[in-house]
Amino acid sequence: MGHVKVTSRTKNIEYAIRDVIAHTQQLVKDGKKIYYLNIGDPAAFDFKTPQNVKDALCKAIEQDNNYYSPSEGRAELREAIARKEKRVNGVDVHADQVLITEGISEGIQMLLAAVIEKGDEILFPGPTYPPYISYTKFYDGTPVAYETVEEDGWQPNLEDLRKKITEKTRAIVITNPNNPTGSVYGRKIIQEMVDIAGEHDLLLLSDEIYDQLTFDQEFVSTAALAKDVPVVGLNGFSKVYQMTGWRLGYMYFKGQGTQLDELKLAVEKECRIRICANTPVQIAATAALEGPQDFVEDIVNRLRQRRDFAWKRLNEIEGISTSKPEGAFYIFPKIHDVGTRWRNDMEFVVDLLKETGVLIVNGSGFDPIYGKGHARAVFLPPVETLEEAFSSLERFMKNKQKK
Ligand SMILES: Cc1ncc(COP(=O)(O)O)c(C=O)c1O
Repeated sequence: MGHVKVTSRTKNIEYAIRDVIAHTQQLVKDGKKIYYLNIGDPAAFDFKTPQNVKDALCKAIEQDNNYYSPSEGRAELREAIARKEKRVNGVDVHADQVLITEGISEGIQMLLAAVIEKGDEILFPGPTYPPYISYTKFYDGTPVAYETVEEDGWQPNLEDLRKKITEKTRAIVITNPNNPTGSVYGRKIIQEMVDIAGEHDLLLLSDEIYDQLTFDQEFVSTAALAKDVPVVGLNGFSKVYQMTGWRLGYMYFKGQGTQLDELKLAVEKECRIRICANTPVQIAATAALEGPQDFVEDIVNRLRQRRDFAWKRLNEIEGISTSKPEGAFYIFPKIHDVGTRWRNDMEFVVDLLKETGVLIVNGSGFDPIYGKGHARAVFLPPVETLEEAFSSLERFMKNKQKK
């Protein structure tokens, strides 16, 4: 038998954040030190899962909670999420409207599978978290980016958003705080986006995984502002509760009357065919939401210090400029000589990696138009490590300018 053929749907999958790792393999074999500034995983650095959450997981397993749970999620967790959304984000949502997923990533896949027919368009910020693009393509939809403006701290250009709405548009994605730019959309912008969705009868998908990780700007949840406009909120435990590797997230459906009933039923059916999310982790996640929350302030304070350092240090480097992230843990600098010294941002990222061991992600991986000429770095490591990585970057930039 010849080789087994695969579908174009899988051949074309891209995920820049992890695809770049392939370039490190030889370097690692050669013993080169790599600065992994590519993946947004706080638990891989000095942000640790709260002790009460780890204890709850061990206890859940010890007490034999090792069975399948309901497909939509355990009732206690759905109730705890409804309480959290009210307490933290001012969102009124009933536990029945919450579904538990194995991370937001699974939620994105399920939602897009449920809303996209061939050729349908999904609007998302440019640049964006890549799975929104990849899953839209996977389900034969067309990804359409609305502009976010670097000079304006990467805030959405609402005129551009309006222009890009067509008869085929099915949903507008909001990622707030944003990955990869770290921008936080204010109350006014979110309200206007809600109004635009309302005028065009569109669904809003609001990814709020960094909801508690903001520095100076107030965070406003989309569902807290939307009254008649249907919103599916996506959130999870990876970034605030440092449970990245445990894979748990959720979505909630907030609509008027029966607006979202059909969509919710469709996603529930998708939940059934994958049986359930991890049971012991759901028990631990309930403890995460119901236990002490003061560690969040500590995380934000440490991140703010690292953000301040990364922003200042990167702007000192000739040939690089960057706006100040207001949330999450990403910074998205512009690399001025992409297009002249390097053909594209991918070439820049690989060149930097090979010469210095500093691994960051090419901006075009987050959007081929609005992300190009940029790169994304995480500012999760301690300042000393960031200083080493950024000093290497500075030397690299100087050497290139001499050549
Ligand atoms: C905006 C956004 N949504 C979702 C995710 C993935 O979340 P999860 O770990 O819950 O799948 C990430 C991870 O980087 C993200 O940045």
